[in-house]
Order: sequence, then structure tokens, then C-alpha cells
Amino acid sequence: MVDQQPIDPARIPTHVAIIMDGNGRWAQQKHRPRLYGHKVGVESVQEIVECASEWGVKVLTLYAFSSENWKRPSVEVSGLMGLLKSYLLSELSKMLKNRVRLISIGDTQRLPRDVQEVLERTIEETAENDGLILNLALSYGGRSEIVQAVRQIASEVLAEQISLDEIGEKLITDHLYTAGLPEPDLLIRTGGEARLSNFLLWQASYAEIYFTDTMWPEFRRSAFSQAIAEYQGRERRFGRTSAQLGSG
Ligand code: FPP
Repeated sequence: MVDQQPIDPARIPTHVAIIMDGNGRWAQQKHRPRLYGHKVGVESVQEIVECASEWGVKVLTLYAFSSENWKRPSVEVSGLMGLLKSYLLSELSKMLKNRVRLISIGDTQRLPRDVQEVLERTIEETAENDGLILNLALSYGGRSEIVQAVRQIASEVLAEQISLDEIGEKLITDHLYTAGLPEPDLLIRTGGEARLSNFLLWQASYAEIYFTDTMWPEFRRSAFSQAIAEYQGRERRFGRTSAQLGSG
């Protein structure tokens, strides 16, 4: 494995979003059950959260459980729920020490009651923290997020709280689960696949996308620094030309 890449502290992405893929395949390559991959994946979560805090990332969104993941075998779903709960319970003191604030996006009402309770408690207990915002996407799907925003907006129109003319990009953005958060600057997917899998469909419009073959359980400090170094080498034009940006 290569060492940590030099990263420019002045150009750290404000919001990094990660599709943590490859746990199952990584475990299977080692002739271990898939859940073992998720377990080691939690260690990667711990290390990446630490790095993000240390490097000054403001928001880290992790795709921990998609709305489609409910279709997995029940033993894997309950294993993942158990890992999530124990992660939240065991990390609280570290979150408080490092001023990490936990939030979540997704249809969290679908989570088992005990997981919801621990999640709500962790969110409350870290609410005043002013460091990294750790945003867990749980039972999250980008399309259903847009559907719920449309429903909410339609009901506000019907109730004559807003008019049709007021519907624009900002209003839609403000009705998503991520309302109030900056858009992701860098979206990383580990595990070798090159697709978005229903993650942050609206919000990732201008994100720099970074795909890596590294499986999530092996995505640690040096791999993360490589992703950030590559991001820092890219030119973000937002539809403009290089000349307009003064760099061409
Ligand atoms: C994708 O790997 C990963 C997931 C579906 C779950 C990610 C969960 C964790 C890393 C652990 C729990 C999370 C937290 C925040 C404590 P996969 O199973 O789809 O891998 P595969 O593509 O190789 O099958």
C-alpha cells in the first residue's frame, strides 16, 4: 500500500460522500462470511471519520444502508443493524471528544426500534458539537428522497402556503433530507463498481466522482488521502470554461 499522499489543507473538500462498497466480496475472497467484511468495514468507518475530522472536512456522508439493502438475506440485514447499533454506542465518547456531530438521512422509521432509539439519542447528544458532521445514510434512496420532497411541496401548494412560481431548484433542495447541508464536492465509491446506486442523485450533480477498486475494508488513511489528492488535482468548472476560471 502507498503512503499517505500530500494533501493541500487549503483545498480540502467541504463535503465528502462515500459509497462504502465491497465488504461482502472482500470477505468472500478470504473465505469468510459476508458479515465479517462488514465488521472490518466498521474499522474503516472509524479510521475515515478520524481522518475527515483531522483534515478539516466539514461533512462526511456515508452510505451505510440503502433502501434496496432491505432485500438482502435477513441474517445480513440484522447483522448490519447490530453493527450500526454497536458502532453508535461505542463511538459516542469519541464523537463527544472530537466534537463530531451525528445526523442521518433516509427513511429511518424503517429501522428496528432499538436502532432508531440509539440513533436518535446519539443525534441529540452530539447536536451541539461544532466539528465534523457525520451524516449516515440509512434506509436511504435518492429517488424516494425526491418523491417525498415532491409530495411535501405539492401539499404546500394545495394548502396555498406556496405558489407554483416559487418552485425552483432551491425549494427542492430545501425539501430534501439534506436540507441545510452543502452539496458533496467529492463522491467516492470503493469496491470497483462505477455507478451511483441511487445515492444523492440530486445533490451530486456537480460532485467530483472518484471510483477505486479498493474494497471498503481496506479503504484506510492512505487510500482516502489519495482520493483527496486526486480531487485537488481536478479543475471544477461548473459548466464554465477554464479561461473563465482564470486557470486556462
Ligand atoms: C456494501 O458492501 C456495504 C454495505 C451494504 C454496508 C456498509 C456498512 C458498513 C461499512 C458497516 C456499518 C456502518 C456503519 C456506519 C457503522 P457489499 O456488502 O455490497 O459488498 P459487495 O458488493 O462486495 O457484496
